[in-house]
Amino acid sequence: STVRIIGVPMDYGADRRGVDMGPSAIRYGGLGTELEDAGVEPVDGGDLFVPRAEERDPDAGSPRRGNAKFLREIEDVCTRLSDRVADAIGNGEFPLVLGGDHSVSIGSLRGSSRDADLGVIWFDAHADLNTPETSPSGNVHGMPLSATLGRGMFGEMEWANASGVREDAIAYVGLRSIDERERKRVRESELTAFTMSDIDERGITAVVEDALSVATDGTDGIHVSLDLDWLDPTTAPGVGTPVRGGVTYREAHSALETVSRRHDADGLIRSMDVVEVNPILDERNETATVAAELAASAFGKQIL
Ligand code: ARG
Ligand code: MN
Ligand code: MN
Ligand code: MN
Repeated sequence: STVRIIGVPMDYGADRRGVDMGPSAIRYGGLGTELEDAGVEPVDGGDLFVPRAEERDPDAGSPRRGNAKFLREIEDVCTRLSDRVADAIGNGEFPLVLGGDHSVSIGSLRGSSRDADLGVIWFDAHADLNTPETSPSGNVHGMPLSATLGRGMFGEMEWANASGVREDAIAYVGLRSIDERERKRVRESELTAFTMSDIDERGITAVVEDALSVATDGTDGIHVSLDLDWLDPTTAPGVGTPVRGGVTYREAHSALETVSRRHDADGLIRSMDVVEVNPILDERNETATVAAELAASAFGKQIL
């Protein structure tokens, strides 16, 4: 099978510059050979064009944009990305989107769900469920799931919504940093949320199996969204919003190997994104290297 690499050097959704260099760093971290070791054929489609943030006005765009910065730019990039993702799937390929900040998932999810009901596994320290109204930071990387679900102001933004993604087909794995209003939203929603405490108590494999059951129930396939801040900062220091107490290197591999085993059995992965790698904050490209290795684990790389 063919994995189509789509780089999105975008940092409009995050406070720190640097995450725009993620796609290069992940490639340099060995993505191509890692994927070959997994037994898939990587095809690198290059990077989407993303204008530099300094040339843009974060407050431009429609008047009702709440607190969200660079929404117009994010709309432009995500609209192009969703076409690329849908085209790849149409050609029988697996799109692997390299971020960039987590707002790229708005485009990935819209593209991947264009002709399908899509389940989602969200490996992240954060819930990414703010809206332009609730966000404490104004950073859209804290909002992609609300955008997908059309919550709050996003309800009026057709480009952001993905009607093929049902709230009850989304499962978080590894949450540990949630804003007050997000907490309320998660509780009142039909989202499934596995926190770090669940992983402590039950072990990573049991938790990921349950997340997969949620995401595959009544769907045509799943999207795997991997935010590198899901890992503990000792393993993945190169991220803009580190939170201590994350998964270990081995737990992370184990999780993606569990996804891969189900993929082999049922062909369930449609698309994946790997986001939030910030090479400027990294140590010797370790976070990007781990990102490349984890993508390979998802696509079937095994020890033996
Ligand atoms: N909850 C915080 C915010 O909304 C942090 C979000 C971090 N998200 C991420 N994809 N790293 O600003
Ligand atoms: Mn995060
Ligand atoms: Mn269900
Ligand atoms: Mn995230």
